[in-house]
Amino acid sequence: MKWTLASDVDGTLTGDRAALDRLAARLRNRQAAGDLYLIVSTGRRLAQVIEGLAEEGLPEPDAVLCQVGTEIYLPPLAAASRPMTSWRSRLLEEFSRQEALGFLEGIEGLEMQPDVYNTELKVSCYLDGCADPEAAAAEIRRRVAPCADRYQVVWSSGRDLDVLPAASGKGKAIRFLIEQEGLDPAGVVVAGDTGNDASMFEEFDRGVVVANAQP
Ligand code: GLC
Repeated sequence: MKWTLASDVDGTLTGDRAALDRLAARLRNRQAAGDLYLIVSTGRRLAQVIEGLAEEGLPEPDAVLCQVGTEIYLPPLAAASRPMTSWRSRLLEEFSRQEALGFLEGIEGLEMQPDVYNTELKVSCYLDGCADPEAAAAEIRRRVAPCADRYQVVWSSGRDLDVLPAASGKGKAIRFLIEQEGLDPAGVVVAGDTGNDASMFEEFDRGVVVANAQP
C-alpha cells in the first residue's frame, strides 16, 4: 500500500536534528521504493521551506502546503515557484482580505504579523499582547461565526491567529491534493503539534501528535 505522510514542520519535524536525520533517511528510502508520498504541511512560507531543506535537514517532499494550507506547491521548488492555480483561484472566489481584516477591528493589544505572513488568502496577527488572548480569540471567532461559509479562524499556541478561507486550511488542502494526485485517502497519516494542525486530525483518521504538542 502507498502511504501518504502529511507532516507539519516546526515543533513536529524540527527540534531534534539527530532524530530528524534518522527519520529523513527512512522517509527517503520509502519514497525511493515508491511506497510513500510525503507532504510537508506548514504555516511557513515557501522560502522558509526551501531554507529548511538546505539548512535544517527537512526531508525532500513530494508536495508542500504553505501558509497554513492556503498555498500548494509541487516540485521543483524554487524561490520563484508559483502556488497551484486551481487551489488558489478556488479560495479567492470566497475570500476578501478587506472583509477578513474587518473581523480584527478594535481588538486591543492585537498586532498584525509581518507582511510576508499576510497574503491575499491569509490574514494573520498576534494576540499575545492582549490582556486576555483567549478572550480576544473567542471574540474574533464570535464575529466570524455568521460568515462561517466563507471564513474560518485558526488559533494556535496562545499567540497566532489566522483568518483563512473556510475551504482552506491544512486538512482541506491535503484532501484536495490527494484527489489531484490520485492517492488513497485511507493511506493518509498526518502529524502535528499545534492549533493550525487540528484541521488535519479532523479531516483524516490516522494521526501522530508529537510529545511536545501544545494544547
Ligand atoms: C506559522 C505562520 C503564521 C501563523 C502560524 C499559525 O507560524 O507563519 O503566520 O499564524 O503558523 O497558523
